[in-house]
Amino acid sequence: MMRRIHIAQLEREIGQLALISENPPPVVTRVLFSEADRRARQLVKELCRDTGLILREDAVGNIFARWEGTEKHLAAVATGSHIDAIPNAGKYDGVVGVLGGIEAIRALKRSQFQPKRSIELVVFTAEEPTRFGLGCVGSRLLGGVLSPQKAAKLRSPDGKQLSEWVKQAGCRGRLDSVRLRKHFYSAFIELHIEQGPILEKEGISIGIVEKIAAPSALRIELTGVGGHAGGTLMRGRRDALLAGAEIALAVEKTALTTGSPDTVGTTGVFRIEPGAVNSIPCQARLEIDLRDTKVGTRNAALAKIEKMARKICARRNIKLGFERLNVDPPAICDPSLVRTISQVCRELNISCKKMISRAYHDSLFMARICPVTMIFIPCRGGISHRPDEYSSPKQIATGTRVLAETLAIASLRQPR
Ligand code: HGY
Ligand code: MN
Ligand code: MN
Repeated sequence: MMRRIHIAQLEREIGQLALISENPPPVVTRVLFSEADRRARQLVKELCRDTGLILREDAVGNIFARWEGTEKHLAAVATGSHIDAIPNAGKYDGVVGVLGGIEAIRALKRSQFQPKRSIELVVFTAEEPTRFGLGCVGSRLLGGVLSPQKAAKLRSPDGKQLSEWVKQAGCRGRLDSVRLRKHFYSAFIELHIEQGPILEKEGISIGIVEKIAAPSALRIELTGVGGHAGGTLMRGRRDALLAGAEIALAVEKTALTTGSPDTVGTTGVFRIEPGAVNSIPCQARLEIDLRDTKVGTRNAALAKIEKMARKICARRNIKLGFERLNVDPPAICDPSLVRTISQVCRELNISCKKMISRAYHDSLFMARICPVTMIFIPCRGGISHRPDEYSSPKQIATGTRVLAETLAIASLRQPR
């Protein structure tokens, strides 16, 4: 069945979305419910409407765009990703899965395909942790991983609660209405850039994800004693920044010495107060991201970092506050979905390989309610979360084509 991807149109739409940013091009920054994020949501909803999809939005702003199948009583097949972007990001992370998902549906419609199961595109709220320090808020709520009570209390750095953010964004309904029952979908397949170098290095067009690594994030508050940089002698200082610096180095050292090459540790946020050159930092806040594909290794590393932080603060006489923002298990993708995508690649004569996702995605939490897998496309140099993130039109078209064929097969699949 010849189904063509209109890559020129898809590229235009990716370019259009990239211009909706809090920073001038080529930088994309689109933090949850910022003015840019809200305009981006409008654009995506317009594209869904133009495609004839039935739109709805839930109480936390997850967007659902449905193509009704002939047997709409059956659990739908879902695809999708996110359009929020961290500061100083690129234009493909998440976007390829949302706009590519719309194009995959358009390609099926153009080919007169008629799905039995409905096909639903999902645009998730807050895949990135920028606004609340916690990633995947929308899919965590959908998957029942985050309670509505805890979600309502999430705060942005300015102290504003999620419940105020969603109200201001015009979301309606109660947060406890967001959760979807198990098997609400028969499958969830997410198209995404790899955000790593493997596919490009090995010259392979498609990655089929079998496992999504176990992410965790830690917030550390350090309180020392401030003072005049000139008048306060070095002996006896209680400098919060220096304690934080030692902790950041301990994160690096721990990640390098777990014996697992998959352990990655990053101190991505490091804020100090008062931030004046002639004033000793009295306060420091660190946010630490720690992952591994094996949850035991990740947990051991996390415990070690916490222990080292206590020792550093005891020696420096610094008050230490810990908050585990998330400590998630990995997700195992559905073997039969993985086989389906392998079969599609074989039939289309597209090179593919099974792999692990080191980045987390909404699929990690959708796996709590239905079988999932991901379709990866290469990105240049493995670069992501940077303005020079890039996947070529050919790579995007290939991924979208494989997604379209996979959705078609999954939408005709009878209940097991
Ligand atoms: O950080 C991640 O893995 C994802 O890109 N938010
Ligand atoms: Mn990302
Ligand atoms: Mn992403």
